[in-house]
Amino acid sequence: MTVKKFYVTTPIYYVNDSPHIGHAYSTIAADILNRWKKSQGYRTFFLTGTDEHGLKVQKAAEKSGKPTKEFVNEKAENFRKLFENLNIKYDRFIRTTDSDHKKVAQAIIRKLHKSNDIYKGKYEGLYCIDCEAYYTGKDLVNGCCPIHKKKVEWVSEDTYFFNLSKYQDKLLKLYEQNPNLIRPESRRNEIVSKVKSELRDLSITRANFSWGIPFPFDNKHILYVWIDALTNYLTAIDYLKSKAKFKSYWPVAEHIVGKDILWFHTAIWHSILLSAGLKPSKVFAHGWLTNKEIKISKSLGNVIDPNKLINKYSSDSLRYSLFREVAFGNDGEFSEKTLATRINNELANELGNLVSRTLTLAEKFSDSKVPKGKKNSPLATSFKRTYREADSQINNYEFHHALETIWKFIADVNRYIDSQKPWDLAKDEKNKEQLNDVIYQSCESLRAISALVEPFIPETSQKIVSQLGLKTIPTLAKYKWGQLKAGTKINKGDILFEKIDFEKAGIEDLFEKLDLKVGQVWEVKLVEGADRLYQIKVHLGKFGHRQIVAGIREHYTIAQLKGKKVIVVANLKPVKLRGVVSQGMLLAAEDKNNVGLLTVANSNPGDDVFIYGLEKKPVENLSIDEFIKITIKVKGGSVFYKDKPLQTGKEMVRADKVKDASKVR
Ligand code: ME8
Ligand code: MG
Repeated sequence: MTVKKFYVTTPIYYVNDSPHIGHAYSTIAADILNRWKKSQGYRTFFLTGTDEHGLKVQKAAEKSGKPTKEFVNEKAENFRKLFENLNIKYDRFIRTTDSDHKKVAQAIIRKLHKSNDIYKGKYEGLYCIDCEAYYTGKDLVNGCCPIHKKKVEWVSEDTYFFNLSKYQDKLLKLYEQNPNLIRPESRRNEIVSKVKSELRDLSITRANFSWGIPFPFDNKHILYVWIDALTNYLTAIDYLKSKAKFKSYWPVAEHIVGKDILWFHTAIWHSILLSAGLKPSKVFAHGWLTNKEIKISKSLGNVIDPNKLINKYSSDSLRYSLFREVAFGNDGEFSEKTLATRINNELANELGNLVSRTLTLAEKFSDSKVPKGKKNSPLATSFKRTYREADSQINNYEFHHALETIWKFIADVNRYIDSQKPWDLAKDEKNKEQLNDVIYQSCESLRAISALVEPFIPETSQKIVSQLGLKTIPTLAKYKWGQLKAGTKINKGDILFEKIDFEKAGIEDLFEKLDLKVGQVWEVKLVEGADRLYQIKVHLGKFGHRQIVAGIREHYTIAQLKGKKVIVVANLKPVKLRGVVSQGMLLAAEDKNNVGLLTVANSNPGDDVFIYGLEKKPVENLSIDEFIKITIKVKGGSVFYKDKPLQTGKEMVRADKVKDASKVR
């Protein structure tokens, strides 16, 4: 039997700057795919690395004041460290400054030359140094690069061209005959129409700077950085060194790239491969991680540092949330809040909780051992279906769907435990055998889950099997339901995921959930049998009337209240006080001697009360528990939240009678 092979690559990243979350994203994707295939028994090769030549990198090195080689060594190390922190299990971390790579890049150029595809000429045109790419006038948006929104440069120099235009028909035929070569389909269609409409010959050497691989036929020239970079995919599997290795991996190569560099990996790369007599490789282009709908990027200055997120949360939670949140292939918003939400929901509540309750059952009712159980159960069938579905989704690069599928299984197991009611079964010795089986099936499910989630969250998967008392994570290839041995000593450890308190983690201000509005007191009544309460009708302008019960009778007379402009919590969950419905709350400050309402003078009923720089996102029916976590203070008679004054846009909010108070309710 021949072993199936799989070869996956990421883009190699420019070392002009530090890695950001976008680089983590492509690399984790490749790692997931590679781990999945490996677990299925494929012999895999996984390549990532750094792109170290070119003008952009040379300029960054100059700016740093360091020798170029020293600069790129440091930067490449940052990528390597990040990938280590992310548990990326690559087979090679290639650097285009590696000596074997130089030989391969030059060997490919010789092949192109042999095919009569290289000629000398003069290039005149536009160049974006951030893309390291040539543009034409019509590619630009407002005279700027469409990706980096920066001015492009005019370049005019002698160069050698690659005869790209010669490959137009061949490419179109190739794409027609191999619809899976470029994915997703929408991107494939874009490429096909661009190949139809414009395929100009490509300048493949530069002569006005020196940081690159020498062009073999003219030592005044170096290779254009993209030509150098693309050939890395051949170097890594020993194109020049091992025929056998190259032959076994090249036919099954799959490149994962961002959509920004798909043109290079299709029209250009495929033509080079055809010219060099090599098989065109498969490409999948994913979308961009965005922040407020703008691409996250070094040159746009809105990067998220993945190391920070890993240190604050965990590598697994970053891996998981990136791939659950965003449909691979589409653009998608990502933030720290996204990550924390995913931790609290699927990781802590669903997976973490299942592991913890299952092991608690074994601890309590089975002497901390895996009990005896049947070889089969409805969960085994559900697992098989889950595996089949997730496999087809992963092969289609639908990582988010695969995770949904796996989490459906987790929900199945949680539901199974709920429905079997082991706590009830335990009340009667007669049910012992059934109870044992429920615990066994739940433990076996954890083992199955560890195999399914390993490619996505490898550390967690290892924790699950360790807590189950096993050494290694079962592979998908070998996994069989019912092979967990009765008697295995379980080892219940810490919970897998701590829940994140958004406020404490500094991700969210509870204040943004509040809806504060100016109200004007309209009518005040006494509440029967409650000598501290008033029943107050407040006018909220275009938001209508509110009835509010307030305990301020000792501090304000009815006459003092009538017509007063107050601050209303407009989105509190309504409650009944002494049989009277209260639809909100009037804010008041309290010191040793006084209770004073918060108030304004020149604003109108219904005006918004806010703090500068914090966008309001009021929730419906805010609970009192949440409300009291929000600390509003009074200083010198003005009202503050985290040192920012509450205001209406017309004036600051003031407190009656009270100068300083650490609490406003
Ligand atoms: O282009 N969202 O390197 P590069 C998702 N050296 N992915 C993102 C991203 C974002 N906001 N930002 C970056 C180069 N990426 C060349 C590649 S390959 C032979 C040479 C990812 O440092 C995505 O994979 O600019 C994108 O294609 C890649 O980083 C670009 O990295
Ligand atoms: Mg880039």
